[in-house]
Amino acid sequence: SQNIYILGIESSCDDTAASVIHNGKILSNVIASQKIHEEFGGVVPELASRAHQQNIVPVVHQALAKANITKSQLNAIAFTRGPGLMGSLLVGTSFAKSLAYGLNIPLIDVNHMQGHILAHFIDEEGFDKPPFPFLAMTISGGHTQIVQVDNYFDMTVIGETIDDAVGEAYDKSGKILGLGYPAGPEIDKRAQLGNPKAFQFTKPKVDGLNFSFSGLKTAILYFIQKEVKKNPNFIEEHLNDICASIQYTIIGILMDKLKVASKQTNIKHIAIGGGVSANSGIRNALKLGEQKFGWSTYIPKFEFTTDNAAMIAIVGYLKFLDDDFAEQNITASARLKI
Ligand code: KG4
Ligand code: ZN
Repeated sequence: SQNIYILGIESSCDDTAASVIHNGKILSNVIASQKIHEEFGGVVPELASRAHQQNIVPVVHQALAKANITKSQLNAIAFTRGPGLMGSLLVGTSFAKSLAYGLNIPLIDVNHMQGHILAHFIDEEGFDKPPFPFLAMTISGGHTQIVQVDNYFDMTVIGETIDDAVGEAYDKSGKILGLGYPAGPEIDKRAQLGNPKAFQFTKPKVDGLNFSFSGLKTAILYFIQKEVKKNPNFIEEHLNDICASIQYTIIGILMDKLKVASKQTNIKHIAIGGGVSANSGIRNALKLGEQKFGWSTYIPKFEFTTDNAAMIAIVGYLKFLDDDFAEQNITASARLKI
């Protein structure tokens, strides 16, 4: 039987990550998250690429050490080619190319969005793999997509955001409310203590399966400004209700499109991924979908839903089995499509 070790490297945004996969099983999953962006309330690209430069060697070392292997045992190097921030992608891409060249082993390019989706195929006890075809909704600070997945590498984007990502809607709302960055987890926590119907925000009208979140952010900003004019303590006095109402609106937007997507495609296997899949509201809504619409839903282990290198390693493994390798002259691609 085969005995394949692959190193996955992820550097598309603000996390420097490396992971070793042995056949389908993750042996290590190391992440250096960049704290530097918190004080700016968002990722600063120039600072992100500098931090990747500092982090990449120690992170790769740790991933190998935790997997208890040496680099000479690796069969291939997989790396995130895109989409993402160019300066960030360049660090991981150049490092992966050099390492593969130095070790004289194959190089495998990975699409970050396919990584979020194929993370469901990591061997992990207690987590079922979705059967084909399934729908994958990728929701994070950088992405909002609904993808029809007919096979590992046969995917079609059937809906996506035309402006902000859903995580950005959380983070920008949090900024308006004076919360720290990223605000998603705190809004989620407070939402569970508040009344979701306390305040109404209109949902955007967007054609088909696409999403829009920038209008919601503006609506929240105007609403808060208006209320604070009347009562300077409005935010403090109603914070949980405001968070609950924002969350109710956002989850409603996501679920409306997911329901239409499921009906249109007649696919009832629904998988989610990305940082926002940690959200209690979306998790509850999916569970409800199991009862109401006969869905089977799939949510990966938390460490494989936010940006990580294990998802890059699993795609690397699947491509390795297909003999699907990259040439040494491959370049990073900030707007790489699925
Ligand atoms: O996947 P991720 O770690 O990084 C990328 O953006 O690619 O996702 C981070 C995003 C942030 O916008 C954060 O606010 C959001 O995920 N997030 C949440 C929750 N946990 C993280 N949003 C809502 N509820 C949560 N529990
Ligand atoms: Zn991501």
